[in-house]
Amino acid sequence: MKMIRHRSVRAIGEAMVEMAPVGDGLYRRGYAGDTYNTAWHMAQWLGLRAEVGMITRLGEDRLSDAFVEAMAADGMAVSGISRDPARRMGLYMIELDGVERSFHYWRDTSAARHLADDPGFLANALHGVGLVHLSGITLAILSPDGRDRLLAALADFRAAGGVVALDPNIRPRLWSSLEEMRAALTRMMGQTDIALPSLDDERTHFGDADAMATVRRLQACGVDEVVVKDGPGPVILSTNGSVTEYLTPPVAKIVDTTGAGDAFNAGYLAARMMGRDAAECVGAGQRMAAAVLSQHGALATKSAVSTLPKPDSVV
Ligand SMILES: Nc1ncnc2c1ncn2[C@@H]1O[C@H](COP(=O)(O)OP(=O)(O)O)[C@@H](O)[C@H]1O
Ligand SMILES: [Mg+2]
Repeated sequence: MKMIRHRSVRAIGEAMVEMAPVGDGLYRRGYAGDTYNTAWHMAQWLGLRAEVGMITRLGEDRLSDAFVEAMAADGMAVSGISRDPARRMGLYMIELDGVERSFHYWRDTSAARHLADDPGFLANALHGVGLVHLSGITLAILSPDGRDRLLAALADFRAAGGVVALDPNIRPRLWSSLEEMRAALTRMMGQTDIALPSLDDERTHFGDADAMATVRRLQACGVDEVVVKDGPGPVILSTNGSVTEYLTPPVAKIVDTTGAGDAFNAGYLAARMMGRDAAECVGAGQRMAAAVLSQHGALATKSAVSTLPKPDSVV
């Protein structure tokens, strides 16, 4: 396990405006997006123990300002954010049909798609950071040139001692072809220290028979630390060439599965940054995921996060 040298985290990706129905055709505004969800939970759990923020691009409009204000109010760093005078944040609406939720996106022209346009901005935003987290969705929303620039910046970051975590979060609809998607994800593994895949995604899109097949494939790409999530199934963790299986405790009342994987990543990576051992990191991930599964939406409540065992004493 590669040591995380600075208690400073940046999630690279897109936060969207979320419109969630509250009845009678009314909607509540929130913010979500896989890497943002992970960063948000890390920030709430770690509090003053670490500086957690995002590397992203927003508009210069009032809605983008409101998001920056919300991040700051939630104790998140806003230094890695660039502003785009010509673009705005992406948005999605949740529609309910009984208990079934469907998601409708307006994100094709979002500012975040240009977060890797400027290599100087990336280098600057990564300066002094200990841990970077990104996902397959981050890669999917960039142009091929943007992906090249991001990978080059991550290579420099790792050469300077930085640790890179990746959740493949495979979403074929965001890619122009399956070949491009597989090639980009495989290439990204070459710059990944901690991979956090979900077995379902890897089975469907890379044909892995089981979690061990995923572990072997990612190790062959050079990833040392592979954490395979599998919903209620066990978490398989491979590091330093050894493999351990951790059972997932049942969650009493699952209300909504949205964002469980993102929250798991937050608990795991936060404990990891605090220097906890592998079993504690997995346990922290499972508890954070359980907090999100027990309520609606991709973010747990602040009070639910505050009742979790503290990051410096997790067991
Ligand atoms: N049915 C469940 N029971 C208990 N824990 C669950 C359940 N579903 C998900 N989890 C927790 O959430 C984590 C991530 O779940 P998974 O479904 O693999 O990710 P994703 O949300 O990305 O699809 C799991 O490792 C586990 O800790
Ligand atoms: Mg996921």
